[in-house]
Amino acid sequence: MRRLFPPQAAGTTPAADADRQHGTDREWDLLELADAYAYPAEGSWLRANMVASADGAAHHGGRSRPLSGPADMRVFGVLRALADVVIVGAETVREERYRPARRREEFVERRRAAGQTTVPAIAVVSASLHLDFSLPLFTEPAVPTLVLTGANAPHPGLSAAAEAGVRVVTAGEGAGVDPARLKPALAALGYTRLLTEGGPRLLGQLAAAGVVDELCLTTAPRVTVGTAPRVMSGPESGTPWEFELTDLLEDSGFLLSRYRQVRQPAE
Ligand SMILES: NC(=O)c1ccc[n+]([C@@H]2O[C@H](COP(=O)([O-])OP(=O)(O)OC[C@H]3O[C@@H](n4cnc5c(N)ncnc54)[C@H](OP(=O)(O)O)[C@@H]3O)[C@@H](O)[C@H]2O)c1
Repeated sequence: MRRLFPPQAAGTTPAADADRQHGTDREWDLLELADAYAYPAEGSWLRANMVASADGAAHHGGRSRPLSGPADMRVFGVLRALADVVIVGAETVREERYRPARRREEFVERRRAAGQTTVPAIAVVSASLHLDFSLPLFTEPAVPTLVLTGANAPHPGLSAAAEAGVRVVTAGEGAGVDPARLKPALAALGYTRLLTEGGPRLLGQLAAAGVVDELCLTTAPRVTVGTAPRVMSGPESGTPWEFELTDLLEDSGFLLSRYRQVRQPAE
């Protein structure tokens, strides 16, 4: 992996610094990656992590894995290891048969020192509550999986969640989650280092509402054609939201970019 931008990022050792300044291709260890992707020290921060093909598709055959590669999976794992909670849309849970986050020995001490549980919780965003509460995601997690929904969530789903002992958190007055209420609702549970893994419809709403602080986007050196959505889908936002590129890494042709939101659209 080599750093393409910024060319002179600070490193943890003089050797790492020198390597990066010259864009040297070398193995980055997991803790070095964790330092590079550390969350801001204070406040609630919502990071999104997505992978796309070079022609913009967010999945191939309903899965994101065909677009991914070793470097993307490595960063995916590190971003999970840094997060308090992973927020994911219900369709991604259904399509990809999401499982609980895996305990990673390399990060246990780091997480304990940061006051975090051994693994991040998963928070599933759903309005319908059409979720299979018998899946390991709900029955086997080290940290209980949450469901985020609106105040008008349907009763059959609420009953099924209650029977399964799954905690349902309300973050909206209507049928679904109000994107503006997502961060405060999670902060009230002590979760401020937030990671969303999409999918495109959930992320489109969050981005359109201006609540995504950071986008980590891997572009794979693959094209898929087809009609898969982009990494964000939904109604077009009024004015484009402005993001700045903060980092660009490259590994085996995969571009791992990182953008930070810089301002609200003009009124
Ligand atoms: N490329 C990548 O990095 C990446 C990442 C993730 C997923 N994917 C792919 O994306 C596909 C799924 O994405 P998708 O866009 O169709 O679906 P999605 O965003 O994962 O989930 C959409 C569902 O989330 C719930 N939802 C969204 N916004 C909500 C809100 N404001 N309040 C309450 N619930 C809300 C709804 O669930 P209910 O229907 O239960 O109400 C909705 O149907 C899969 O094929 C997956 O492989 C790709």
